[in-house]
Amino acid sequence: MDHRHTIHQDIARAQDLYALENDLRTLLAGKLEGKDHIQTLNLACGRADETGVLAQIVGEKANSAHIQGLDLREAEIQGAQKLWTGAMPTINSSVECDFRVGKGDQLDANKEFEDPDLLFIRHQNYWFDPKAWVKLYDQALKKLKDDGVMVITSYFDQEHEMARRVLASLGAVEVEHRFNPRARVVKDSPKVEKTVDRHISVFKKL
Ligand SMILES: C[S@@+](CC[C@H](N)C(=O)[O-])C[C@H]1O[C@@H](n2cnc3c(N)ncnc32)[C@H](O)[C@@H]1O
Repeated sequence: MDHRHTIHQDIARAQDLYALENDLRTLLAGKLEGKDHIQTLNLACGRADETGVLAQIVGEKANSAHIQGLDLREAEIQGAQKLWTGAMPTINSSVECDFRVGKGDQLDANKEFEDPDLLFIRHQNYWFDPKAWVKLYDQALKKLKDDGVMVITSYFDQEHEMARRVLASLGAVEVEHRFNPRARVVKDSPKVEKTVDRHISVFKKL
């Protein structure tokens, strides 16, 4: 691959993460404050590029934090592990992270994950397998602490709307929403507009 292409991609990803950090800081202002420890579950995390952003956000709100990531794809999880576990002390020494391969729709049976204060899903993928994602949302909400918050982001308007409807039917209440009209366009979806962190919503349990 042309090295200029990868440099441009790296810069674009860094800009996406900068925007995500600003948005999360605004949307989560006044939430999760006063906790000694923030347990975070990054579901369907893929390579978890946003781990540094999450570490900054939760690290500012509590004395310590633990970020756990979960995804179906082994190569992505290995990538996340390589990228982040050793880097955490230079980002925030009070934050730890680890990543595991697994199914988010089988969280009930998985004892490796702590109940989260913050549940995070970037570019949620309801369209990929609606039945599995309804289960994933249901089990994730049951696992979320009563005073916890759930954040989802989406690439597409329609997919975000579908996830909102499912979450509402499962008892989640949307307390914040941000549509980013200037989000970066991803050109691999010619028919429907796809942009990075196009929508971000924050939910609480009823
Ligand atoms: C659109 S990608 C987003 C990945 C990452 N969060 C990001 O923003 O780059 C959706 C991710 O969901 C994962 N996924 C889909 N169904 C899943 C399931 N049932 N359990 C765990 N992960 C799942 C896929 O492997 C993929 O990494």
